Amino acid sequence: MKTRALGPGASQVSVVGFGGMPLSLSDRPSEEQAIRVIHESINAGMTLIDTADVYCIDENEYGHNERLVRKAVESYSGSREDLIVATKGGLTRSGTDWGRDARPDRLKLTCEASLAALGVDRIDLYQLHAPDPDVPFAESIGALAELRSEGKIRWVGLSNVSVAEIQEAESTVPVTTVQNRLSPFFREAIDEGVVEYCAAQGIGFLAYSPVGGGRLNKKLYNHEGLSPLGEKQGASPHELVLAWVLAQGSSVIIIPGARTTEHAMSSVRAADLELSEDEVREIGAAEYSTD
Ligand SMILES: NC(=O)c1ccc[n+]([C@@H]2O[C@H](COP(=O)([O-])OP(=O)(O)OC[C@H]3O[C@@H](n4cnc5c(N)ncnc54)[C@H](OP(=O)(O)O)[C@@H]3O)[C@@H](O)[C@H]2O)c1
Repeated sequence: MKTRALGPGASQVSVVGFGGMPLSLSDRPSEEQAIRVIHESINAGMTLIDTADVYCIDENEYGHNERLVRKAVESYSGSREDLIVATKGGLTRSGTDWGRDARPDRLKLTCEASLAALGVDRIDLYQLHAPDPDVPFAESIGALAELRSEGKIRWVGLSNVSVAEIQEAESTVPVTTVQNRLSPFFREAIDEGVVEYCAAQGIGFLAYSPVGGGRLNKKLYNHEGLSPLGEKQGASPHELVLAWVLAQGSSVIIIPGARTTEHAMSSVRAADLELSEDEVREIGAAEYSTD
């Protein structure tokens, strides 16, 4: 598997990482299957796993996905040396609703909970899941900087942020990664300059929902505009789209979700697709309805 730097001065990671969220939401697979998908993904060369404390059904099971990732990692029989586990804090669950709470004291508590759920002394990459409009951004970042200087987190990441917010954070703490949405369905990370800024700084851009997320990805199966190129390349529409996302910047890393080994292996194949500039343009120019 090809690799890219996770961020300035950070480890190399596989360009395709594993997005853990679908393994812990309401339509999740059995734990046995979930662990098998993670093991097969690591076997295929993935060295980055993305999780979060809020990947769970509701407020009664915070940390579900982190505990699952821990079980998968601890039961993996091969080498775990290169494996980077990234988690996040700053969101809440209330029933099926997602909320924001990035008060500094709460981030410190959620970081402790993530350390316990993951069973580690230090989190590889701790990401602010999203800025909280009710908390000054600098205060949330200050908490991450403190956690880093206390040795509880190795690298700091941001998610759902603008270029201005990345720059504001950089004045307090080194920013290793930025995790924003990016797929041909949703291109605001390109339009607003976040992908370009990350590439210029060497900040890893972790593209989330790279095939459009749980609902929209299904539209790719019978995507007529992508089928001629798919036949030529011997690739599925999902693979073409993932290769398109990877081609958007030199620091892009994709973290597609998967509940089946088949889908995870398809995403792995996307890393090796060789697309010409014209082919990348062709994929980008196809129709992607979000209806
Ligand atoms: N920071 C944030 O705010 C944020 C928000 C959303 C997601 N994320 C992260 O980003 C990760 C990915 O996002 P996502 O899960 O929302 O959406 P996604 O990666 O676009 O994938 C959605 C679904 O598409 C299917 N799929 C993926 N790759 C495929 C392939 N190569 N071939 C066929 N089907 C494929 C999978 O279905 P099956 O499940 O049926 O296999 C997957 O669950 C999450 O798991 C999470 O770690 C972060």
